[in-house]
Amino acid sequence: MKCSVYIATSLDGFIAKPDGDIEWLDHPDYILKDKKEDFGFYAFMDSVDALVMGRHTFEKVLSFGEWPYEKPVIVLSSKNIALPEHLQGKVLLMNGSPEEIVKKSTESGFRHLYIDGGKTIQQFLNAGLIDVITITRIPVLLGQGIPLFGETEYDINLELISCSEFENGFVMLTYEPIYPGKT
Ligand SMILES: NC(=O)c1ccc[n+]([C@@H]2O[C@H](COP(=O)([O-])OP(=O)(O)OC[C@H]3O[C@@H](n4cnc5c(N)ncnc54)[C@H](OP(=O)(O)O)[C@@H]3O)[C@@H](O)[C@H]2O)c1
Repeated sequence: MKCSVYIATSLDGFIAKPDGDIEWLDHPDYILKDKKEDFGFYAFMDSVDALVMGRHTFEKVLSFGEWPYEKPVIVLSSKNIALPEHLQGKVLLMNGSPEEIVKKSTESGFRHLYIDGGKTIQQFLNAGLIDVITITRIPVLLGQGIPLFGETEYDINLELISCSEFENGFVMLTYEPIYPGKT
């Protein structure tokens, strides 16, 4: 199973404001002249079989109104979530360790997962299960918020695979984590 992260952070490493707000990602200064530029997002989405997101990210996506995903979405929660009618068959609920989530996903036939949500990504990283991390650094300092990264059980070195800059100041970095003892 391949697990990838594709996420945007402020320059100081936050994925959302403390209350979960992500509107700062849509600041008018970030509009590109090249309307076709999608930061590789659609190619990335084409390459994944399913998304795995934490409950907080799921609740944020639900607040948008329209469900944006065509691929299956696995929502992680320890709670009993009542899925809205229109998401039956599109959203799978799971609970367990990252290893268990990957095992169940493999049994469902998935080969490439898009892991999303700060706490969720941190768990998968600590389990040594994230293969690729693409971070788009947004040129803003939020000062506080929900962090992408958190405590790790050991140092995780990363190999820089690519780095691209955009006219709006976004910098996209792709890394592959190197886990001790894992080849
Ligand atoms: N900047 C970006 O590109 C970007 C991308 C994604 C998300 N976001 C933002 O990030 C915020 C959410 O991130 P977050 O760090 O707060 O949380 P998150 O990872 O989205 O959700 C955390 C929750 O997921 C559940 N969970 C995670 N792993 C689990 C597991 N192994 N088994 C069972 N449940 C598990 C738990 O829910 P329970 O409490 O129900 O057990 C946990 O409290 C939102 O505001 C979202 O909009 C930003």
